[in-house]
Amino acid sequence: MEAFELFERHVNPGLAGLLRFTGLDVVEDHAEGVYVWDKQGRRYLDFLGLYGTLSLGHRHPAVVEAVKRQLDKMPMSVRVMISEPTAKLAAKLAEVTPGGLSMSFFGNSGAEAVEAALKLARIHTGKPEIITTSKAFHGKTIGALSLTPKAEYQDPVRPLMPGVKVVPYGDAGAVEQAIGAQTAALIVEPVQGEGGVNVPPQGYLRDLRRITAERGVLLIFDEVQTGMGRTGRLWAADWEGVAPDLMTSAKALGGGVMPIGAAIGRAELFEPFKDNPLIHSSTFGGNPLAAAAALAAIEVTISEDIPARAAEMGAYLMGRLSHLAAEYPEMISDIRGIGLLIGIEFSDADIGAIVISELAARGVLTAFGLNNAKVVRLEPPLIITEEHVDEAVTALEESLSATREMLQGVL
Ligand SMILES: Cc1ncc(COP(=O)(O)O)c(C=O)c1O
Repeated sequence: MEAFELFERHVNPGLAGLLRFTGLDVVEDHAEGVYVWDKQGRRYLDFLGLYGTLSLGHRHPAVVEAVKRQLDKMPMSVRVMISEPTAKLAAKLAEVTPGGLSMSFFGNSGAEAVEAALKLARIHTGKPEIITTSKAFHGKTIGALSLTPKAEYQDPVRPLMPGVKVVPYGDAGAVEQAIGAQTAALIVEPVQGEGGVNVPPQGYLRDLRRITAERGVLLIFDEVQTGMGRTGRLWAADWEGVAPDLMTSAKALGGGVMPIGAAIGRAELFEPFKDNPLIHSSTFGGNPLAAAAALAAIEVTISEDIPARAAEMGAYLMGRLSHLAAEYPEMISDIRGIGLLIGIEFSDADIGAIVISELAARGVLTAFGLNNAKVVRLEPPLIITEEHVDEAVTALEESLSATREMLQGVL
């Protein structure tokens, strides 16, 4: 049996059905840079980049080399000795994250980074409540899911973690009102990814910093999707020069080669580890292979000024997209974003789905936001060139035109 049918039968029939609908009932084979090839040898331009993970593209040579070197030496830590790449990665993160974040806890994913931040916040404050924002996406483990207010994901597994308050995203005043005597922390994405690429009003992050500091509440920035250059700065928080108390990173932190997640925070938040070193732990978190990948990824991101590339290519892509909303007003309601985190909002999720499948038919990969099915997001590797942008925009123009033709008389 072919891999696609095996997946459909043994892993996730619903997802296989969705992929069939988009014409992607294919099996991936290999990838390089901004391209992926399927088993039939067909090439695809990757404008999704594993939801913001592939900032350096597929198989960046410096990251692959660092991982190979570590693989030949010692891929797994024995955990009762100190792993050099893990310790060096924590030191590097202390150097490159916003002021005062000097300690790291490592997991293997974004959700694990969020879980760690949640636990550290509760332990430090001795308070149970967390404030989250509408349309937020923080992951799907029970703790992280409790902060991800989407009924479709939450309702089937209730009861969730108690003590979560949801406030509208982008409204600092609502946070001020929601803070109570039992509030431990506010968790927020500096720009929402899965919620449909929502860029908050300027000054929002600074206001949140001021309000949480005044009220003695911890501020957690979830930079799992926005970090490592995606928005045009190394961290999206850098746009407003704001340092949170805790920050989460994952996705692109592993250089597109290894999975890793990190909760990075102020030293006092990590005090509980002094008396209780195993108060939170993970067998695989920050393992030598993943840490080697992350160290190489940070080195490449900074030495090649990848954030500046994201800003430059993002401006070019936005410029090329800007006329589309005017040309297809019956289908596109908005185009928005920052750096190379860009969303195209359709008037209807079904129209977006047709455009995604038309793009796939033209060899361009994109997807919906997990918390907003009306928005198709473009998150290409940050190493793209103008030629790649032109290739994607041409395919998009053809896809929109084909969709309009298909829907003639319906809209
Ligand atoms: C902002 C944010 N936080 C957390 C997560 C969860 O990350 P993971 O899927 O690695 O658990 C995501 C995933 O999309 C995310 O975008």
